[in-house]
Amino acid sequence: MSGEPARDPSDALRVAVLGPGGVGGLLAALLTQAGASVTCLAGARTVEVLRTHGLRVESRLLGVVTTRVEAAEQLTAPVDVCLVCVKATHLDAALERVPADVLGDALVVPLLNGIEHVAELRRRRPHAAVVPAAIRVESTRVEPGVVRHDSPFVTIDLAPAAGLQERVVRLAGVLERAGVTVRTTNDEAAVLWGKLAFLAPFALLTTSARAPVGRVREERREDLLALVHEVASVARAEGVPVDTDMVVAFFDSVPEGMRSSMQRDAAAGRPTELDAIGGAVVRAADRHGIAVPVTARYVAELRAATD
Ligand SMILES: NC(=O)c1ccc[n+]([C@@H]2O[C@H](COP(=O)([O-])OP(=O)(O)OC[C@H]3O[C@@H](n4cnc5c(N)ncnc54)[C@H](OP(=O)(O)O)[C@@H]3O)[C@@H](O)[C@H]2O)c1
Repeated sequence: MSGEPARDPSDALRVAVLGPGGVGGLLAALLTQAGASVTCLAGARTVEVLRTHGLRVESRLLGVVTTRVEAAEQLTAPVDVCLVCVKATHLDAALERVPADVLGDALVVPLLNGIEHVAELRRRRPHAAVVPAAIRVESTRVEPGVVRHDSPFVTIDLAPAAGLQERVVRLAGVLERAGVTVRTTNDEAAVLWGKLAFLAPFALLTTSARAPVGRVREERREDLLALVHEVASVARAEGVPVDTDMVVAFFDSVPEGMRSSMQRDAAAGRPTELDAIGGAVVRAADRHGIAVPVTARYVAELRAATD
């Protein structure tokens, strides 16, 4: 099966995908299938692979699909939306591919885990319309241009500021046509902290223990409860009520073999998103004068281990 972009899509949504990896590659393929005009922004090697072979996605939503996409090392023409899909550790370098004067006031939708990238993007691209977002998916870049999508769902939460609704509704419509579940709210803290409430404890525990969730929830129960409560207390100070019983129940319900991407990165010797995920919790706690001793200990230990 082979997917082609919509024909003559003069009113097609123009989307740049910065970082066509696990998340970006999947969304680039899905959006192309739904008729958007997609350009993947990546390094020279990945651009070459995408131009030569297209984007191959093995997905529960799409089946196995090879999709033709445009690929470039730099954004050179205006787009309606730029999806930012690099890891936090690559954000700084990747942004060079998106010149502010070409980007203009386009929607910028960062799908990174963490919190602080939103302010960073607003600072670095002040004319763009940054829409805080979170994605729930399990998708892996197997090699440049090849993505394996394992979760039977893709859900995106969007938190547009006032005045951006119309443009976000258009984006949401295309995403939904592509099979993505989209939820929209005006509470950006809820989107970001709602995700971090589970993700931060999960990533810190599994990376530290070098074990899947099944083992950490049995062997590190006390730390798990402490981490969940600490992150929730910071989220509450940020205005986001987190139900800790629900977070713990979710921990207990996920498949025992589930591993975090931080853990996979650490095991592979790649830079991790420790600072964007754990470090951000500790910094927010400091700002609010909240003690988070277990989180801080995990962050310090992992930082020492990976430095
Ligand atoms: N994967 C998931 O299931 C998932 C789920 C929820 C949230 N997230 C979050 O989504 C974000 C992206 O994660 P991911 O798993 O998709 O990462 P990934 O698979 O490593 O993909 C990142 C992509 O960024 C590209 N990249 C790196 N440096 C770049 C640069 N300077 N310019 C342009 N592109 C660059 C990489 O290019 P190459 O291919 O050329 O190396 C790669 O394609 C992270 O914050 C992650 O925590 C991921």
